[in-house]
Order: sequence, then C-alpha cells, then structure tokens
Amino acid sequence: MKILLPLLILCLTGSHGFPAGLKTSKQDLQIVQNYLQKFYNLKPDDRDGVKIPKQKPISPFVEKLKEMQKFFGLEVTGKPDEETLKTMKEPRCGVPDVFPFVITEGNPKWERNNLTYSIENYTPDLTKEDVDDSIRKAFKVWSDVSPLTFTKISKGEADIKISFYYGDHYDNSPFDGPNGILAHAFQPGLGIGGDAHFDEDENWTTDYRNYNLYRVAAHEFGHSLGLSHSTDIGALMFPSYAFADPNDIQLSQDDIDAIQSIYGPTNNPVQPTGTTTPQACDTKLTFDAVTTVRGEKMFFKDRFYLRTNPYFPETEVNLISLFWPSLPSGIEAAHEVEEKDIVRFFKGTKYWVARGQNVLPGYPKDIYSTFGFPATVKKIDASSSDIYNGKTYFFVGDKYWRYDEYRRSMDAGYPKLITDDFPGIGTKVDAVVRDNDFLYFFSGTRQYKFEPKTKRVVALLKTNSWFNCGNY
Ligand SMILES: *[C@@H]1O[C@H](CO)[C@@H](O)[C@H](O)[C@H]1NC(C)=O
Ligand SMILES: *[C@@H]1O[C@H](CO)[C@@H](O)[C@H](O)[C@H]1NC(C)=O
Ligand SMILES: [Zn+2]
Ligand SMILES: [Zn+2]
Repeated sequence: MKILLPLLILCLTGSHGFPAGLKTSKQDLQIVQNYLQKFYNLKPDDRDGVKIPKQKPISPFVEKLKEMQKFFGLEVTGKPDEETLKTMKEPRCGVPDVFPFVITEGNPKWERNNLTYSIENYTPDLTKEDVDDSIRKAFKVWSDVSPLTFTKISKGEADIKISFYYGDHYDNSPFDGPNGILAHAFQPGLGIGGDAHFDEDENWTTDYRNYNLYRVAAHEFGHSLGLSHSTDIGALMFPSYAFADPNDIQLSQDDIDAIQSIYGPTNNPVQPTGTTTPQACDTKLTFDAVTTVRGEKMFFKDRFYLRTNPYFPETEVNLISLFWPSLPSGIEAAHEVEEKDIVRFFKGTKYWVARGQNVLPGYPKDIYSTFGFPATVKKIDASSSDIYNGKTYFFVGDKYWRYDEYRRSMDAGYPKLITDDFPGIGTKVDAVVRDNDFLYFFSGTRQYKFEPKTKRVVALLKTNSWFNCGNY
C-alpha cells in the first residue's frame, strides 16, 4: 500500500501557497500601505480612492496593489491576500520597482566606461579583506558582460561610493533595522549618483547565511550602472533577495541584455550568455530531471524548478535554491524513494540526498561507492524508483541499470540496453518519472507515456503536458 507523506514542503516555500481568507489585520494593512508607498509610488493619502460621481471609485491603493502582484507574478487579486503579504515581508532591495518620475531624459548612464569606486567605511561583520573581495567580485559580475571596468581608489572622489549605514542616513531613504530593506543604490550621476548603501543592521556574510554581501552588492551595482528592477525571477535584478549559492551568481539573459543595451557588448570576441528562466508553456521546453517530492511532481531545468499547484492555475517557476540552497544548478537526474522519504539528486559523478527541505549531512557522495557504477559512468541521465518492487532504475546513454534498495546493490545482469526493455522511447533519456502504473520518459521536447507491464509506449506527449497550457 502506498502511503503518501503530507506535502509539508508546501508550507515552507516563499511561493504560492493556500489562498487565504480576506480578513487582513490592521497591522498587515499598514505593511501593505507602507510597501506600496515605498516601492510603487502610492501617495500617502491614496488609501481610500477618488470618488467620481456615479462611478465606481477608482482606488489607487487597489491599482498599485495589482501592479505589485503583477510584478511578482502573483495572482492579481487587488487584495492583500496571504501570498502578497508573504512577498511583502521578504527581504529585498530598497530601490522602488516603479519610478515616480523620470530623473533625466532617457536612461541615466555613465559617459565613461572606466569607472572608479571607493569603500567609504567597513562593516564590523566581516574582515576588511572579505569586504574588499566581495565588492571586487560584485563589480566583476558586470565587467564580465560589458565594456565597463572598475578601479578601486582611496583618494579623490570615486564614481561609485560604497557605505554601510544604520537607519536614517539623510538621503530620504532611511534603513529599517534588521531584515526588510537590505540596501539601496542610486542611478548614475554626480555626487550621490551611483553610490551604494548597505544596511548595517543586517549581518553581512560571505556564505549562505543572511545576508551575503557579494550577492546583494552585485544587485545594487546594477542600479549604480542604471538598471532598474526586473520581473524575471531568475534575474539578479529581481527585487527580492534569493539565497542562491553565493559563489555561483549567474546572470540571466535579461540582466545581460539590460546592461548591454546601455553600454554595448564586451570587448571580447565571444559574448557571454545568461540563463533563461523556463516558461511552462514553451513548446520547446526540455527538462534536466523530473521527480516526485512527497508525491508531488517537480520538474528541474538549470537553476529552476517548475511545479503545478492545485490551488493556482499557473505553473510555479522558481529557483531550486529556494528549497535546497546547497544543491547545484543543472541537476541531471532525480528520484524519490518513498519508503525512505528521501529524494536523490544527481549531477556528474556526485549525488545528494534530501528529506523534505533538508539536504542530509555528508553529501554530496560519489555514485561509485554507493551504487557500484563502473568508472566509465560519468553521469546519470535519468532515474526512477519503483516503490512496488524496491528497485531503482538508472538510465545512462543507451543503457540502464537496476539497483535494489533493500539489498543495497546493483542487480546482476546489468546494464542492459534501453531498447530491450523500454522499446519505443528512443536511446537518449533526459528524465523519467513514475505516475501510477506508467513511466513518463522525457527526451528532448517529447514525452513518452510507457506501460512497463506491456512494455509499450501508450501515448506520445509534449513535455509540458502536466501544466495547464491549453490545447495546442
Ligand atoms: C578614463 O578614460 C579617459 C579616456 O581614455 C581618460 O581621459 C580618463 O582619465 C579615464 N578616467 C579614469 C578615472 O581612469
Ligand atoms: C546577527 O548575528 C548575531 C550573532 O550571530 C545574532 O545574535 C543576531 O541575531 C543576528 N542578527 C540578525 C538580524 O540576524
Ligand atoms: Zn534593487
Ligand atoms: Zn542610503
């Protein structure tokens, strides 16, 4: 008998959860009001709306709230529901998502490519070397994808001045104590233009703990160079703090396009490319891995996961690091072993084991000692575990292996050819997942619904058939 564990994981995410009742406390309403004033240019007296005779009142409050929900890819309800409040309570950048007025004609930009910066004061949270290093790396994120160069100076006035401040520091944008607003930066220009300020009430780190200075500085310097916030959840310029692997900041194509639209391409013959956030209904969508997690299907692609949510029509796309900050991007295979309540993730010759949201200590381990793969196997393409017989199947190139979860060893007689036992699914598997009595094999933009009992492909599907994409 198959017993599914509760979807605990649903409650732990910063993403779409259960739609809440619409009873909002006075305190929460104040949070919404403040947020919209700070980041969406809501005027303090816009709360109640303008009454136009014989018409429904137009409420700037509701309009701004809808704008915010659209920006963050939330359901546009115009109401301060639970998801909206949760997003508003997330740590973020202090720069508004919409600009109240155009400061200069066109987009403000630096007129030189050789920019200078200075570090005006140091946070006591880190050594001077760590601060210098974090700031240097954060500038490098942008100099790698543009013709810009950044030189640290200690004499004279730098273009970009970096400071750590507590609370009100007299630039009309006071910091707010721990969490909430982490930092802000000004558009290119003279004086304060280009400067970046960091909230000294935060604990600045060089690792995954809150908040990684390199990660936040890289975002802020985007503003220092003239970029505004992006609605692309995979972009560095997304306003919320994402706890991705701090040593692996990846720009999205959206970030690269934005900086290059201002300053042009790099001077290198080969232009860098960024990651693209997967679109659930893209007919060319392919997956790296698919698995169930406590019974719920999750689809992996680069740094992202996709999943459907029973309470929300749109497919959720978010960063893998939201659940498992220590996993790498580009997972190549994953499967759930339900009776052990674990999910295994594979990349190259290494694998990780997670229980719920926790990656278990001691991982990654290598695939050879645990599973007994020969040294010729350098990566796993796809894997799936069968709760009925305690066997786990590994697909590698045109072959597959069968591992016994009880005896903890590979079954004799393997590898076999995929075509021997899974005819019709081709010889290159990207991902596989089980659903009831069927295995679903993903290969490029195709998906094969396979019935192991009869060894037959019973349907050919698009990869995104699991998502609510309408008919095409
Ligand atoms: C930047 O380059 C220009 C032109 O080569 C030069 O005149 C200027 O002094 C340089 N500025 C800095 C800060 O290096
Ligand atoms: C900062 O770190 C200190 C010491 O580890 C801790 O006591 C404090 O709660 C942290 N502050 C925040 C805002 O996380
Ligand atoms: Zn920002
Ligand atoms: Zn400031």
